Amino acid sequence: AAPAPVSPTGRDTGADPTLAAQGGEYLTTAHGSRRSDTDHSLKAGRRGPVLLQDHHFREKISHFDHERIPERVVHARGAGAHGVFRSYGTASRISSAAVFGKDVETPVFVRFSTVLGSRGSADLARDTRGFATKFYTSEGTWDLVGNNIPVFFIQDAIKFPDVIHAGKPHPDREIPQAQSAHDTFWDFVSLHTEAQHHTIWNMSDRAIPRSYRTMEGFGIHTFRLLDDEGGSVLVKFHWKPKLGVHSVLWEEAQIANGMDPDVHRRDLADAIEAGAHPEWELGVQVFEDNEEQMFEGIDLLDPTKIVPEELAPVQPVGLMTLDRNPSNYFAETEQVAFNPNNLVRGIDVTNDPLLQGRLFSYLDTQLSRLGGPNWTQLPINRPHAPVNDMLRDGMHQTAVHTGVAPYHPNTLDGNNPFPADEPARPFIDHPAPVAESVKERGAPASFDDHYSQARLFWLSMSDVEKEHIAQAYTFELGKCWEQSVKERQLQSLANIDAKLCAVVAEGLGLPAPRPTVEHGRIAPSPALSQIGGQWPLD
Ligand code: HEM
Repeated sequence: AAPAPVSPTGRDTGADPTLAAQGGEYLTTAHGSRRSDTDHSLKAGRRGPVLLQDHHFREKISHFDHERIPERVVHARGAGAHGVFRSYGTASRISSAAVFGKDVETPVFVRFSTVLGSRGSADLARDTRGFATKFYTSEGTWDLVGNNIPVFFIQDAIKFPDVIHAGKPHPDREIPQAQSAHDTFWDFVSLHTEAQHHTIWNMSDRAIPRSYRTMEGFGIHTFRLLDDEGGSVLVKFHWKPKLGVHSVLWEEAQIANGMDPDVHRRDLADAIEAGAHPEWELGVQVFEDNEEQMFEGIDLLDPTKIVPEELAPVQPVGLMTLDRNPSNYFAETEQVAFNPNNLVRGIDVTNDPLLQGRLFSYLDTQLSRLGGPNWTQLPINRPHAPVNDMLRDGMHQTAVHTGVAPYHPNTLDGNNPFPADEPARPFIDHPAPVAESVKERGAPASFDDHYSQARLFWLSMSDVEKEHIAQAYTFELGKCWEQSVKERQLQSLANIDAKLCAVVAEGLGLPAPRPTVEHGRIAPSPALSQIGGQWPLD
């Protein structure tokens, strides 16, 4: 069932959304008039024509005509589940968020997804997976909208439409669906070489997970946690599956996509139904919140970079268990609206330019996807905390607000929602310094190294994993028509690793170019106790 109805205004409107549409014993029209026949239209005589006055006929057809809403512009195909997040209390040292209190249990809804395929595409496409979690905390909703790969293709949100246009099916024939095997994708990632790190993860087995239950999740961006004393730290969020990380072979993925394109959503639902409730531990890497926002030469605001766990260990803060399947796909999995703006006291954003752009995009897209500004009233999106806002009216408004003065302050409403005093535990707007005051469109120099971490990833792979990566590049690039695109991508591979480049070049029947960059410093190696140990949470 949908979460218990909580009035979006914090006041009881008496409307139970689960009963509103399906309560009575008889078939009725939408306005409750009983009907005995829903199989025959009203005609002038048995042989027609059909009469315009048949309201039941017109309502039934017309409502059906409007049953579809736009699919998400990205991450259209997904599967969701309800569960609970139990906090260990370890993060309460660095964040005042209620969700991190010791033994606090918070209901969650998670939606896993592919990125590029349409709603009806196959689950086991080679693609990044979305891993979005809605925490219905007692102090408002917190959304952690992450992926199963810890880095992203681009460093600035202004390029998001470009990377997605390049990755989506070609505009002329809509081929292919959710696979990287086409010219525009390789054209983009070889021209925008900051994408090379994410791309090598996509060519690895991580992009064909065995199950949603065996995927890691990453918040990717660096976030800021705030405590009650005005202290702040920077963190990166990680979900670690209790079942471990597992993938399929490319051949298995091909077979599964053909025989059961729903393989991942089926696996998730079946496991939950059978009582094999999947679990993930949430952990954080913690960094000092200083002006540079750098850690061991890694720019923490660059979403194309990881911080190796050897340098900043992932410290566990709680356990999530998914234990309930949705009862209505549309009302829950489709209408859920995640948004990186959904933050609560103690959790805040940083200046990562990719994250900053996301803060605009989600709200904006949901205005059209969910038909206006009132989607927070949909049952799956309702906070499990009292709401008392001054937002009124609009398309699809279902709350019945009371009072005459929806503004603040006012002296007219008996139930004036704003007492004179500050509310207890308000959201903290952290007074972070702004570094530069000159308007410019460039990126910091620390964003310039596009290859060291791709190389780090490659070097960390076992031999069999390396073989799979080389095969994936060869297969996917082999689908390109344009030779110049293949050659430019080979140049990037040469800059990542000469051996990788040589194997793929041979597979494509092309010469292997020489690297054009010096390999950057791969892995800084200060003692763990000096770096990772500086923010022990236990
Ligand atoms: C949807 C993750 C970057 C725009 C999603 C979803 C996930 C996600 C998991 C699906 C949510 C769901 O299941 O409903 C990420 C991650 C990013 C990233 C991890 C980078 C670290 C961006 C950027 C933009 C963007 C830069 C735009 C500037 C969107 C839009 C949707 C979406 C428009 C559809 C939302 C909806 O219709 O409800 N993203 N995304 N994303 N993302 Fe992102």
